[in-house]
Amino acid sequence: MVGMNILSQLQARFRTALAGVVDDPTELLAMVRPSQDAKFGDYQANFAMPLGKRLGRPPREVAEEVVGRLVVDDFCEPPEIAGPGFINLRLKTAWLAQATARALADDRLGVEPAVQPRTYVLDYSSPNVAKPMHVGHIRSTVIGDSLKRTLRFLGHRVIADNHIGDWGTQFGMIIYGYKHFVDRAAYAASAVDELSRLYRLVSQLVGYHDNRAALPKLRAEIERQESEVARLKQAGPKADKAAEKSAAKNLRRAEANHQEMRSSLAATEAGVAQIDRDPLLVKLAAAHADIGRAVLAETAKLHDGDAENVRLWHEFLPPCLADIERIYRRLDVTFDVTLGESFYNDRLAAVVEDLTKRGIARESDGAMCIFLEGQATPLIIRKQDGAFLYGTTDLATIQYRVETWSPDAMLYVVDHRQGLHFDQLFATARLWGCDKVELQHISFGTVLGDDGRPFKTRSGDTVGLWGLLDEAVRRAHEVVSQGDDRKPGGPEISPAARQQIAEVVGIGALKYADLSQNRTSDYTFSYEKMLAMNGNTATYMQYAHARVLSIFARGNVDVAALRSGGGVIDLARPVERALALAILQFSEALDLVATEYRPNFLTAYLFEVANRYSTFFEECPVLKAPDEATRTSRLLLCDLTARTLRRGLELLGIAVVDKM
Ligand code: ARG
Repeated sequence: MVGMNILSQLQARFRTALAGVVDDPTELLAMVRPSQDAKFGDYQANFAMPLGKRLGRPPREVAEEVVGRLVVDDFCEPPEIAGPGFINLRLKTAWLAQATARALADDRLGVEPAVQPRTYVLDYSSPNVAKPMHVGHIRSTVIGDSLKRTLRFLGHRVIADNHIGDWGTQFGMIIYGYKHFVDRAAYAASAVDELSRLYRLVSQLVGYHDNRAALPKLRAEIERQESEVARLKQAGPKADKAAEKSAAKNLRRAEANHQEMRSSLAATEAGVAQIDRDPLLVKLAAAHADIGRAVLAETAKLHDGDAENVRLWHEFLPPCLADIERIYRRLDVTFDVTLGESFYNDRLAAVVEDLTKRGIARESDGAMCIFLEGQATPLIIRKQDGAFLYGTTDLATIQYRVETWSPDAMLYVVDHRQGLHFDQLFATARLWGCDKVELQHISFGTVLGDDGRPFKTRSGDTVGLWGLLDEAVRRAHEVVSQGDDRKPGGPEISPAARQQIAEVVGIGALKYADLSQNRTSDYTFSYEKMLAMNGNTATYMQYAHARVLSIFARGNVDVAALRSGGGVIDLARPVERALALAILQFSEALDLVATEYRPNFLTAYLFEVANRYSTFFEECPVLKAPDEATRTSRLLLCDLTARTLRRGLELLGIAVVDKM
């Protein structure tokens, strides 16, 4: 057996065995999997039931036939058939030991590069410039970065493209703000800080007028809902149980809607009141009554090439980008290209024209729209007033990417709230001829605070990213210091080193907390949980890694000599065998990440490795092993564990430390 991916080897063998039995075994092969429980062997094939059904034969008989054709004796014990036809496979321990030794000699730990490398364009992070980046952008950044690292490690070509929002209304806001409210001295001292003050001020004023305009409608709607609730309450007795039940349900729904509308009214009123409390803001709001329209006009002038606004845009962009760049550096995230929305401005008119010419877009109420099957609302690509939209830019972007890189896949790591946008975008792109490219919205859920609502700071702002990172590092420093202070021989880590370690541990914890979630669910942000020493956290993984290094240090082990020493791996104890098997399943975990675009398969895998290591370590003395050969074998397992953890964390964008 050449390849080291055990699962794909087994699937290949099953494919051969199934050749005479069934036409297309692909679906069945997906039912060959690692076992959840060691008592069913190391791998299981559970396809006998569906196959039996297909062939109209008893599953057990089918399983026996397949096993009779299956050739795996070079690396497996004779397969066993359990119950109604589960095929249990157990690897030969001697083979496992040899495979482990091969992984040991391999810098890639036995992970082979893809046989058919693909080209991916990965669109992630993509914040809106000149607006504060928020915690949702961390999710996109961190998930995208780890997909990039993993796909690249697997031998694929990846173009990481940061599709920044550098052309939107926020520029109209800061241009307007700059023209009316700039504090020259503050701008000279720090352009970004002053621009973000201007952004906040202008968006506050725009929001104030919008909110005030919305109030009467909201109040009227609430009145309507109130009378609806009253009507439902008064309705007389029902004919039967079912009618009663449905009436109760209607009432509950009406009450819930009413509640929701009330809180939305309360929020709107609070927003208005906040400004009303501040005489200065009230004065500004009165003096800029038309600010919403004016901001749109500034944006439109920018898009139309107005000299002054274009000049300001060129002036504002660099400090804003530098500010974002600072965060990327701290997160150790890089891109191959940063082609923001502005880059596509010149292509938009042609895109609309082409889509119209092909009959994909048509006019409706003065706007150019794409009506898609099964969609209630069209994708608008040009508004009545001639303005292009987010979707227009994204279509131009797809065209450019196809022309430039001819990718096999384009992945968009973006918040789930943009799901409809991507459905419409992809459907349009396919109509437009882009039907050979895999287009995927790598959607993710919302980050929640411990109150179950979208994560915000006390002031109600979406949390600033830099402060978030600082806080994670500050807490990591506490964890690291406490751990070090408690060491039996007294603290070992200097204050400067503690600070460095805290940075790695804090940032790592934050990233891992995100990556270890099933990305499509919302997740609750908690510093305590993400920095837990025990559990599925980066901290635990980094700690396990540091622990291995400390064994080497204590035993004065020369790791290079150990690796090249030709020591034999002995998997006599079940915990040693279980650890080695986990280590050899690294490439299986990476394959899952790459096919499902879910980094949490990798975190779950690393957690499993760390846990098996921990059991191994409890049961098997390493430095005090009974004899030299066993000691060497166990040290080799330690080394492999550390390397697997380190490599795995690296693919998540997380660093390790030597000491903790
Ligand atoms: N700038 C957008 C936002 O912050 C995300 C852009 C995602 N990428 C794209 N090609 N649409 O919400």
